[in-house]
Amino acid sequence: MVNKVIFGRPDIQAADTASVNDVLKSGWIGMGAVTEVLERAFIKFTGARYAVAVSSGSAGLFVSMLACGIGKGDEVITSPLTFPATANEIIHTGAEVRFVDVDSSGNIDARRIRQAITTRTKAIVPVHLYGRPCDMDIIMGIARKHKLFVFEDAAHAFGASYKRKHIGSIGDASVFSLYATKNITAAEGGVVTTNNKKIADRIRLLRSYGITKTAWSRFGKKDVTLPYDTLVPGYNFEIPDLLSAIALSQIRGYAKRFARRKYIWGRYDRAFKGLGIELPGDQGRDYLHALHLYTIRIDKKKSGIDRKIFIQRLGDMGIGTGIHFISLPLHSYYKKRYGYRPSDFPNALTISDQTLSLPLSSGMSDHETDRVIRAVRRICNG
Ligand SMILES: Cc1ncc(COP(=O)(O)O)c(C=O)c1O
Repeated sequence: MVNKVIFGRPDIQAADTASVNDVLKSGWIGMGAVTEVLERAFIKFTGARYAVAVSSGSAGLFVSMLACGIGKGDEVITSPLTFPATANEIIHTGAEVRFVDVDSSGNIDARRIRQAITTRTKAIVPVHLYGRPCDMDIIMGIARKHKLFVFEDAAHAFGASYKRKHIGSIGDASVFSLYATKNITAAEGGVVTTNNKKIADRIRLLRSYGITKTAWSRFGKKDVTLPYDTLVPGYNFEIPDLLSAIALSQIRGYAKRFARRKYIWGRYDRAFKGLGIELPGDQGRDYLHALHLYTIRIDKKKSGIDRKIFIQRLGDMGIGTGIHFISLPLHSYYKKRYGYRPSDFPNALTISDQTLSLPLSSGMSDHETDRVIRAVRRICNG
């Protein structure tokens, strides 16, 4: 482990540790005041009107859809090139998943969404893959025309923006993940942002058991025991202050963290040019990329190298990697449930077969970056 360049290593600084220690010593480690500050930090950062912190991005997707009444008999359109959680949460609501193929960027091909809309379609879940925003003008236009909700899967997209609007402030709800490998982490957690008070209130209720008062508002805030009522059989999707404290501290140091990611990304771009592998795009005219995942594509026909061998050789040199993602129609459950053939979504399949994510973290040292560069160059140069 010691000598490995870990894939998705979190960037934990002294300020993050201190923030956690403060909570540990405070006498209140469950969800409370720190989580409220975290929610306010998300509002300030994204420009959305409301934010609700939850126990994971997955939980956030689920309660956002529930809050808007998505359920049995409905269809929800999303990308096949995503983490299973995106589609799983649609299934959990009782609705059915309709995949629409991606374009060459890996994001859902917004121009193909219209063809997938049926009388049952209720929502679109665009995934800002790798941190690159989807074409939100087209997606929001289609959604408004057909009266569909838009739940943005912003698990990769903290810090991204589209036409000068932060991701988190555009769709009906946007869901960020605070999982260990994300640009901003709490180890586990998530935040939903929305401009709609009704949606925010409903998510808050569903997140906290469906009861009218959280533990913090009952005991912590007022120091008196307030009675509470159950309005709906909700869930425990609360995030403890212990974890919110990490994310809060990380947001405060975000500018520095993003600059570091950008620096490493730039070094990779320069070092890997002309090696026969396809490099990820970064910034575009209309958007700011969050630079979450540095994904190369290895086309055996062009590079003469098999991805499996590439991964193996990087592993032998102590470099961790990831695959983002294996197209969902290749997964047993989605294959069986919908009878999909992976070739039904050819672009997702090609990316799924060729993509490989290299370590990228603001916590990576120059030495670790050098090691990744040397290893990739060695493999590509035979
Ligand atoms: C694209 C995408 N959506 C959703 C999720 C689920 O987020 P979480 O792990 O916080 O539940 C992830 C996971 O990391 C993801 O990569």
